[in-house]
Amino acid sequence: MSIKPKKGVYDLPDYVAGRTQEEIKQKYNLTEVYKLASNENILGPCKQVMEYLKDNPDDVNYYPDSDALETRNRIAQKYGVHRDNIILGNGTDQIIEMICDCFIENGVNIVIAEPNFPIYEKSALKCGGQVIKVPLCEPDFRQNIPEIINSMNRSTKAVFLASPYNPTGTILTEDEFLDVLKNTDKDVLIVMDEAYHEYLEDDRKIDTVSFIKENPNLVILRTFSKIYGLAGLRIGYGIADREIISILNKVRLPFNVNLIAQKAAVIALENDWYASRVRDEITAQKEKFYSFFDKSGIRYLRSHANFILVKTGDESNRIVEELLKSGFIVRPGLNLGIPGYIRVTISTPEINDRFLERFIEIYRMAYR
Ligand SMILES: Cc1ncc(COP(=O)(O)O)c(C=O)c1O
Repeated sequence: MSIKPKKGVYDLPDYVAGRTQEEIKQKYNLTEVYKLASNENILGPCKQVMEYLKDNPDDVNYYPDSDALETRNRIAQKYGVHRDNIILGNGTDQIIEMICDCFIENGVNIVIAEPNFPIYEKSALKCGGQVIKVPLCEPDFRQNIPEIINSMNRSTKAVFLASPYNPTGTILTEDEFLDVLKNTDKDVLIVMDEAYHEYLEDDRKIDTVSFIKENPNLVILRTFSKIYGLAGLRIGYGIADREIISILNKVRLPFNVNLIAQKAAVIALENDWYASRVRDEITAQKEKFYSFFDKSGIRYLRSHANFILVKTGDESNRIVEELLKSGFIVRPGLNLGIPGYIRVTISTPEINDRFLERFIEIYRMAYR
């Protein structure tokens, strides 16, 4: 082909998405396939959101409010901030992209832990920035905060942290978070990705939003994709100083979040009790996984999100493949930068039971 993209486009890392249920059904001739690979909330959105979706098909005909006033007001109300402190994205993915579009260019870098959720790196590279990667601590796979602080240099423009962390489910303590705030220059953005925040036990939650006033370089990211069950609608939000938000709005496309997503998000927040209920159910199910793995002598990481990283060793590829043949899609650690592990999204009690039963048969067969 004679037409060539801009320099660097071919070098961008590809995002390896989870396999789809349809693909696995066809490949293995299965009627039922369970997707335990992308950390969606298998319980789905609350009943009120489902009713809205069912009863309002005509909403597809309309452009959304480009300023998403009602949704931003609702979010602002939840956190006791002004709507000018809120930006919506087509998923938080898009807010990460907007942050890089506004702040990252040739000659500057971002600091991230490694392995990590891949969108930070991809978005920074796309803008010509460099990426400084700090390996996770061994053996607990936590973000190495002292090293992350040490790695920032005069060209650092942003540091991306996550709590709970994907793909490990580990978290930052409040002391670690405060250390980052204290030791980061005020002209460096601190992006705190809290996509799985609502899954945290109440006594583990850090009130990160309350730090924005004193730290205008702090951006908090949260999403409706995870506990609220709206991953397919694509809506996430950022909370930050209004100056940062107004900068991000410069690159935001006017209708970046569709009308149905905006309305569903409002209804989800009106029914916020649902998030705690999902959290409690998932927490109970995680305990079941832990005791099952403990009894079976299988290592795993205790997780603060709705997924668990399980050590499957040298036979991981075979185990993933056998699980696929049995209708369970899990995420191979190899694709996440943690070979020898698989990441499993917690599902309903029945599906979890079926998964564990099949998993242990496959695991024992693989190591016979
Ligand atoms: C840590 C983390 N941040 C952000 C996202 C993106 O979420 P969204 O669906 O809001 O784009 C994900 C999704 O998997 C994630 O794991």
